[in-house]
Amino acid sequence: MCGIVGYIGKQNAVPILIEGLKRLEYRGYDSAGIAVITENKAIIEKKKGKVSVLEKFVKGSGIEANIGIAHTRWATHGEPNEINAHPHFNADKSIMLIHNGIIENYAPLRKKLISEGYKFLSETDTEVLVHLIDKFYTKKKNLFEAVRNALLLINGTYGIAVISIYEPDKIIVARKGSPLVIGVGREENYIASDVNALITHTSSIVYLEDGEMAIVTKDNFEAKTLEDDKVEKEVVEIDIEVDEITKSGYPHFMLKEIMEQPESIRNSMRGRILMDEGVSKLGGLNGFEERIVDSERILIVACGTSWHAGLVGEYMLEQFTGIPVEVDYGSEFRYRNPIITPDDTTIFISQSGETADTLAALREAKRRQALTVGICNVVGSTIARESDTGIYIHAGPEIGVASTKAFTAQLTVLALLTVLIARSKNLSCQDGQMILKELESIPYKVEKILKLNDEIEKIAEQFKDAKNFLYLGRGYNFPVALEGALKLKEISYIHAEGYPAAEMKHGPIALIDENMPTVFIAPQDSVYEKVISNIEEVKSRKGVVIAVASEKDTKIEKLVNYTIKIPDTIRMLMPILTSIPLQLLAYHIAVKKGLNVDQPRNLAKSVTVE
Ligand code: F6R
Repeated sequence: MCGIVGYIGKQNAVPILIEGLKRLEYRGYDSAGIAVITENKAIIEKKKGKVSVLEKFVKGSGIEANIGIAHTRWATHGEPNEINAHPHFNADKSIMLIHNGIIENYAPLRKKLISEGYKFLSETDTEVLVHLIDKFYTKKKNLFEAVRNALLLINGTYGIAVISIYEPDKIIVARKGSPLVIGVGREENYIASDVNALITHTSSIVYLEDGEMAIVTKDNFEAKTLEDDKVEKEVVEIDIEVDEITKSGYPHFMLKEIMEQPESIRNSMRGRILMDEGVSKLGGLNGFEERIVDSERILIVACGTSWHAGLVGEYMLEQFTGIPVEVDYGSEFRYRNPIITPDDTTIFISQSGETADTLAALREAKRRQALTVGICNVVGSTIARESDTGIYIHAGPEIGVASTKAFTAQLTVLALLTVLIARSKNLSCQDGQMILKELESIPYKVEKILKLNDEIEKIAEQFKDAKNFLYLGRGYNFPVALEGALKLKEISYIHAEGYPAAEMKHGPIALIDENMPTVFIAPQDSVYEKVISNIEEVKSRKGVVIAVASEKDTKIEKLVNYTIKIPDTIRMLMPILTSIPLQLLAYHIAVKKGLNVDQPRNLAKSVTVE
């Protein structure tokens, strides 16, 4: 949720840290801070608000140093202000620390430290850690040992970086439940919670695992476990281009990512289609295909938008493979003693690959010996690494907090997985080919839909002052209704709900009047006539209707107030197309309301706390 970056080397750390923070700001953005050591003195600056506030301040201050750490925060304990912002420090400002995660047992630790004379400045859980490190440093006079001993007392999750004026030649880092990477340079090294912060400096990355720590110096890094055993770490070369993480001329990352979808969908299927055999090839699953095909059940676990993708996956897999599928929220799955057997395949869908609830569910499924399959975007992320096997969606970095291109890439990969399993069951080669050909045509259809941008912007203008929205769809398009409503509420702060269209008469219809816009996802599929009846019900109660409809449909526009016409495809792939106008509608409404669509209030890109 928060972002961590650190530097040690021969350059001035300050601009490197600020640039890194800006690249991480999408992960958390209510306050930011920096700590550097120069001439054996610590300089700590923290500011409430965006990284730009901190940047302006440090630029003017002329601070220079060769070692430093910096943090952008998304508040969990204590309101966003300068005192609660990181880095936190001990009484004489000799030890400074930044932390992602939550220290669950901070209350008793804080009480004990206060009884021992420690003074707390902030309301954060993090501050106990810096005082604990101070306490052990007084005894051990060794920073690594002090951090290690402090961490042994901590319950909870952390990715941390610590520096001290007593040992100004090193950064100590540790990870448990919150990602942390080391970027390897020449006569300089970096640390960060996310490789995006480092890609302008190095592509050589070391991923720390849970329970690992490292001493990072200018020329070296040494990894150990929390139990002080040495660990050999592999340096991995990553392949991310800088323009993948910049706006490239778009006003917002969200719009850029919506517009990138023809390409991101192509990338997610590239090299994965064997048209002659009417089957897909998912290299990541190598050796596990048979076990997946033979599974008794498939359980899909995810959160938010990824959960909506999972719901579409349920429709696809049940229709074509005959394997019973259940979809659960990570947060519910992990606490409800779910029935999982070694004959089940569990699939964990996560853009970031770091979502705490999805990760905890994955670990539970592993404990119960089910096969675990990760469907992730971020390469090397925790869920990707901890799953038995997996499929990358290859959507490229998604920076806008509202997920868009990851969703359509997740659906693409779920379609490929469905074909892979179904071909080992009853799906004929011809039917497999038909689905895959249709899938190959999807990027072109997406290009066509994106050309409706101006038209959708005009519709958005009419609804920017709406207070509520209803989204309705059936079958494959029911999860799209949920996703459309989520997109709108998270970036425009307009209350929106998604429902299966037929459920409307069981309650939500009471809300319909001239002030309640309803978005119907109504392509000409097998439930079209039924959806039309639902539209009639809304219209007869003076409701305002926006319909996402098939381009050949000439009937619907006579019935509704606004129509967004899109190309057709087979039912299972329709959600890839129908979700895109809803992304654009949400985007334009939020922009017209003057809101920050890339960094909506209270949200963070990757939810690494419960
Ligand atoms: C919504 C959104 C969130 C995420 C959810 C899961 O636009 O982005 O609902 O989908 O937090 O995140 P991942 O997919 O990273 O596990």
